[in-house]
Amino acid sequence: MSKPIIINNKKISFNKKINIEGDKSLSIRWALLASQATGISRAYKILRSEDVLSTLDCLKKLGVKIKLKKEYCEILGKGLNSYNYKNNITLDVGNSGTLGRLLLGLLVHSKKKIKLIGDKSLSKRDFSRVIQPLKKFGARFYSNNKSSLPVSIMGSKSTKPINYFEYRGSAQCKSSVMLAALNTPGETTIKAKKSRDHTELLFKHLKVPIKIKKTKKFDFIKVEGIKKILPLRYKVPADISSTAFFIVLTALSKNSTLLIKNVNINPSRIGVITILKKMGIKIFFRNKKNYKGEMVADIFVKTSKKLNSINCPSYLNSSAIDEFLIIFLVAAKATGISYFRNLSELNQKESPRLEWGSKILNMMGVKTKLTSHSIKIYGNPNLEITNLIKIKNYLKDHRIFMMSTIAALTCGGKWEIHEPDSIKTSFPSFLKIIKNLNKK
Ligand code: S3P
Repeated sequence: MSKPIIINNKKISFNKKINIEGDKSLSIRWALLASQATGISRAYKILRSEDVLSTLDCLKKLGVKIKLKKEYCEILGKGLNSYNYKNNITLDVGNSGTLGRLLLGLLVHSKKKIKLIGDKSLSKRDFSRVIQPLKKFGARFYSNNKSSLPVSIMGSKSTKPINYFEYRGSAQCKSSVMLAALNTPGETTIKAKKSRDHTELLFKHLKVPIKIKKTKKFDFIKVEGIKKILPLRYKVPADISSTAFFIVLTALSKNSTLLIKNVNINPSRIGVITILKKMGIKIFFRNKKNYKGEMVADIFVKTSKKLNSINCPSYLNSSAIDEFLIIFLVAAKATGISYFRNLSELNQKESPRLEWGSKILNMMGVKTKLTSHSIKIYGNPNLEITNLIKIKNYLKDHRIFMMSTIAALTCGGKWEIHEPDSIKTSFPSFLKIIKNLNKK
């Protein structure tokens, strides 16, 4: 267990340019697809966080050759369904729902039984959401409690394409089914509530036969099973979810500006930008370009003198799903009452984040009204904390640690924030970047 960090009435201001680590969703997807390609794939700037390292470890256990060098990661793919592993292996997916759910999609063809385990937080999360559709492909599952890890999977030699309705707006569920469809003969059809579309974009880039029809609420996706995919050379852009903490830190700090280089601004991920702009934060995209199907840009942000409350339209929920904790912090400092609804999915994350968001704001002296799917936040632009706030026992949810740190640096008070190790899941350099911002 790592020692808590203490922040005692410390505020910072800065004018800097920073680089943020690679996108987690893209790093995991690149590694999984590279492991199924025929040939050598190489990725620069792959995120070196525990979730991605768990991905590489699981793939190694599945017999995949991986070189992790200082500058890049190389994966030698031997083709679709080429995993070669011992009997009764156990794969530890750690804290990562994305890894656990997407990997199960690839394992619908496994020839031997494989057990999947995860850490304490992941073992509380729902896996029936992918087990149900993957069973329809023909895979068999064995578990004690039917809905969470540990679970064992035994694949099928003759998987069948399925029709699937993804109604939660979950990219993990959609992607799990798409990966199962990749090497399943015939056409899998998916009707999916809008969610991040990295898997679709990578499939297109790799020339996997995929058809997508977009309507306002749903995407209709057809994936045709194939025999081979190409290796992929990739430079992972920076993670917008990690970037969001620094956008808010800048907006809430005095006399500050920040330029964040080469961030993934995929339209299905930037709900946070839309929401923060509506709340009055000045954010600009510079050098916007398309990189292998993904949009990237440098992001410029500056101090916001005035913040507005928001009645957040729920069509933005999926595209901001990992950023709500930090958005709640902005709402706490805004003029007026903010309202976020249809957010029950937020309680299905690494910790029950809707509950935790409310709890932390209450500790800060901010009034909230919480239900199982919504939160009202009574903003206070003059919020200044004077008491001691202790953040602990939060299931080591990396984003709770980071939200609390940003709150401490922008709202005053004395903070004791436990388990800084939690950031290793998604953003190991988070505290180092803050230290550097503070250097003159
Ligand atoms: C992710 C999808 C989201 C998100 C997670 C990463 C992905 O989860 O919260 O951090 O990479 O597909 P859901 O699909 O469960 O909403």
